[in-house]
Amino acid sequence: MSAVLYQIYQRSFADSNADGIGDLRGIIGRLDHLEWLGIDGVWLSPVTRSPNADWGYDVSDFCSIEPDFGTMEDLDLLIAEAGTRGIRVLLDLVPNHTSDQHPWFLDSRSSRGAARRDWYVWADPKDDGSPPNNWVSSFGGPAWTPDPGTGQSYLHNHLAEQPDLNWWNEEVRAAFDEIIRFWCDRGVAGFRIDVCNVIIKDAELRDNPVATEDDDFEAQLFGQRSVYNTNRPEVHEVIRRWRSLVDDYREPLILLGETPVPLSELSHYYGNGGDELHLAFNFPFISASFECGVLREIVEQTEASLPPGAWPAWTGSNHDMFRFPTRWAGDDVRKVRLALLMLLSLRGTPVLYQGDEIGLGNTKVEHADMRDPLGVRYWPYYDGRDAGRTPMPWRGVPGGGFTEPDVRPWLPLGDVAACNVERQRSDPGSVLSLARTLIAVRREEPDLRTGSYRSLAAPDGVWAWMRGDRHFVVLNMKDTRAVVPHLDGTLRITTDGSRLDEPVRGELALAPWEGVIGATTTR
Ligand code: NOJ
Ligand code: CA
Repeated sequence: MSAVLYQIYQRSFADSNADGIGDLRGIIGRLDHLEWLGIDGVWLSPVTRSPNADWGYDVSDFCSIEPDFGTMEDLDLLIAEAGTRGIRVLLDLVPNHTSDQHPWFLDSRSSRGAARRDWYVWADPKDDGSPPNNWVSSFGGPAWTPDPGTGQSYLHNHLAEQPDLNWWNEEVRAAFDEIIRFWCDRGVAGFRIDVCNVIIKDAELRDNPVATEDDDFEAQLFGQRSVYNTNRPEVHEVIRRWRSLVDDYREPLILLGETPVPLSELSHYYGNGGDELHLAFNFPFISASFECGVLREIVEQTEASLPPGAWPAWTGSNHDMFRFPTRWAGDDVRKVRLALLMLLSLRGTPVLYQGDEIGLGNTKVEHADMRDPLGVRYWPYYDGRDAGRTPMPWRGVPGGGFTEPDVRPWLPLGDVAACNVERQRSDPGSVLSLARTLIAVRREEPDLRTGSYRSLAAPDGVWAWMRGDRHFVVLNMKDTRAVVPHLDGTLRITTDGSRLDEPVRGELALAPWEGVIGATTTR
């Protein structure tokens, strides 16, 4: 629980065989970077075979390795090599849907009487030929696609190429037990579970209520409140089943859920007495604006609502939500540093996304280069998710150290000269050096690793909290200087690297967008 996790979007991490696509051997070649940074565990986006309608999130074989990424031996080697560096490997489990090319779905759609017909959600269209109910896909458009062969429609909460499994079916549950065991037996440390809150749908497939003007942004966008196709109470039964399955392993395994739910729901995903997820991603936090009052409120509400013993997870970027250095910080390096200090000093598990450690911002991807199906479908109204998925810049050379100089990467590189690992590694004042120091101090200090969180009174625009008995964290989240009264102690880390070991006597002055961690002697 005191770990620092790191998401690897491997298609864009490191390319070992010069085909422009990141791969497992590429990750092995960069493990030293992760060890040097102080990372305890990595989550890999899906490594399994996929026709790539949604870049790996449309799985056609759950117990395989996508050839673009390498072989099963490469994964075994990655787990072993990471292990020798004290880094554990989590895989992405995608239980809500499969690829439409998965043999299960090919069988299911072959006839109404097929052995696996009931493994997916099939329903008759209405008499007028319209979809069985009003549900919309979270990728837009109806959540149903008619299948002329059998005259019924199948459900898909995402692309039509991603048919949803029927989690009421015991055989589906048993098949996933086997998949989970398969990977656990290979030595993975656990799973990030894709759209964990969505997998089970209303058994009667009732229409969602139409949104009213009082509903939230998402309901307004979809025109309905997704009460019957997400967050069904029965999902918890499935998560409890997975939890008891992984608890049977000798090594502690981690279930980290993708849980895009309101804060009022989040705590339920930890279960009663800790019998569901170990960690649940906090979407209100990642989706919030980078404002003191807004973030503090979310953190305080999270702290107040989680059951005893539950451990939060904090993240600023991922392959869907873009990179926080642009989204939150507007590429202002003071704010990037402040956000890193925040992520790494809240109570909970920080999950960094590749590139966060160097303050990498979004990369503009032109229409002709777009690869995300959502960008391709909705451009020019929406550019899709590619801007946060471009390759990792390792060095300021052609190919960025991601691939060979003469190879065209699957998505374009950004300005690799402006922001890259190699240059920041040799600069003690860089964002990368700050990230590494923050992780190192966190490792050393039980207060920062596992200590409690308690908000401190602070002037407007300043967010201050205690961790454990002795450590204070103060963030000045505004354009003007701030003075925080009633603090005594010594500064241990500051966002710009200056003022180390400076004593604080009675009050602490902070520059605009400066953040500090200090140790107090009097509190
Ligand atoms: C969430 C994943 O993070 C995203 O990339 C994917 O498109 C959807 N789930 C569907 O699997
Ligand atoms: Ca490759």
